[in-house]
Amino acid sequence: MRTQVGIVGAGPAGLLLSHLLHLRGIDSVVLEARSREYVEQRVRAGVLEQGTVDVLNESGVGERMRAEGLPHHGIELRYGGAGHRIPFERLVPGRAITVYGQQEVVKDLIARRLADGGKILFDVPDVAPHSLQADPYLTFGGERLDCDVIAGCDGFHGVCRPSIPDGVLSIFQRDYPFAWLGILARVPPSAEELIYSRSDRGFALHSMRSPEISRFYLQVPPDASLDDWPDERIWAELRARLETVPGFALTEGPIISRDLSAMRSFVAEPMRYGRLYLAGDAAHIVPPTGAKGLNLAVADVRVLTEALAHLYATGSTDLLDAYSATCLKRVWRAQHFSWWMTTLLHTFDTDDAYGRRLQTSHLDYVTSSEAAATTLAENYVGLPLDSGAPRD
Ligand code: FAD
Ligand code: DHB
Repeated sequence: MRTQVGIVGAGPAGLLLSHLLHLRGIDSVVLEARSREYVEQRVRAGVLEQGTVDVLNESGVGERMRAEGLPHHGIELRYGGAGHRIPFERLVPGRAITVYGQQEVVKDLIARRLADGGKILFDVPDVAPHSLQADPYLTFGGERLDCDVIAGCDGFHGVCRPSIPDGVLSIFQRDYPFAWLGILARVPPSAEELIYSRSDRGFALHSMRSPEISRFYLQVPPDASLDDWPDERIWAELRARLETVPGFALTEGPIISRDLSAMRSFVAEPMRYGRLYLAGDAAHIVPPTGAKGLNLAVADVRVLTEALAHLYATGSTDLLDAYSATCLKRVWRAQHFSWWMTTLLHTFDTDDAYGRRLQTSHLDYVTSSEAAATTLAENYVGLPLDSGAPRD
């Protein structure tokens, strides 16, 4: 089998790349280890930046997102017994976020690729990249896919990054001493907007998926198990951490899904080795507090699409050569923002009284200074994309 771009992984990065390349007349094949049902049901992120919403709309896969997604024009930071709204409409006019589940984006992209005749192979065993410096190819289950370039969109635990020889990549990493327990509950949201709550018991986040479905997260110990968290304990802890302002009451309902996520910051540089290009979680991870993981994956594949379109239109590798540096500028900004939001809002066992005072003082600053609130808002809704194309 032969294609122009061999894509490993049918997460948001791989699927969107395949779709955007198709719109530019570039052929690809997506190889996914899991089943279609599995990738369509996997509950993960929910916040789409303005730029992510724009690219889904402009590329013709935004119809259901426009109908069912929830535009939000602010978030609340809750701490010290009070809530403080960060108003996007005033601080970053014209920019907002849309709450729409990652698995809905994945469903929309799969449906569109298949309707357009795209090739996505699910349940593919033993994918391995080869010959990365020239004439690259992928092997899987006794078959071979030859391609011009390989896009490693196979997430943090994929095979593409580990196929790069030792010593090539510089790794930057930080692990956090806590995890997130996430739940979906069949209950209307308890507030109209997202609430990021810092309490002495740990962080909690109130989010949602629809007028009928709420999404919540709790900071939990890094070695927590779902068995430690029966429903009553989850609701009691959510109440303790969120019902901290007068008049706010959490509405409870049946929990329909639960998950645990490790909290990690990670960057592998460069995001390229020969003809292998890494995109999304395959190259970098952020803790989810800034809601940046999925949005970074989308930004990477936009840059990669432009670079590949430029290659096929002109024969020039200029933009591909700039791919890693172009992406890493945005990646490191998001790394800092995600680390900052995480340290601002979580409790750390190692924190002393001085550390807690610093945290509250900084929260006071962010919620009282127009400049500091604008910094939060413009990072949260997403900075504009640098395509890597030379500026005039
Ligand atoms: P992925 O979505 O990981 O997709 C990679 C794909 O590659 C998967 O379908 C995988 O099955 C496939 N694959 C892996 N190995 C192979 C192989 N060997 N061969 C073939 N295919 C392979 N971000 C937020 O902003 N907010 C959140 O709440 C949030 N929650 C998260 C919860 C969890 C449990 C995880 C893991 C991540 C979460 N994230 C969150 C991050 C966000 O979901 C990711 O940044 C996003 O999924 C990245 O997309 P991706 O396409 O790069 O990688
Ligand atoms: C959601 C996830 C996040 O990581 C976040 O910061 C905000 C919302 C969510 O899944 O709804």
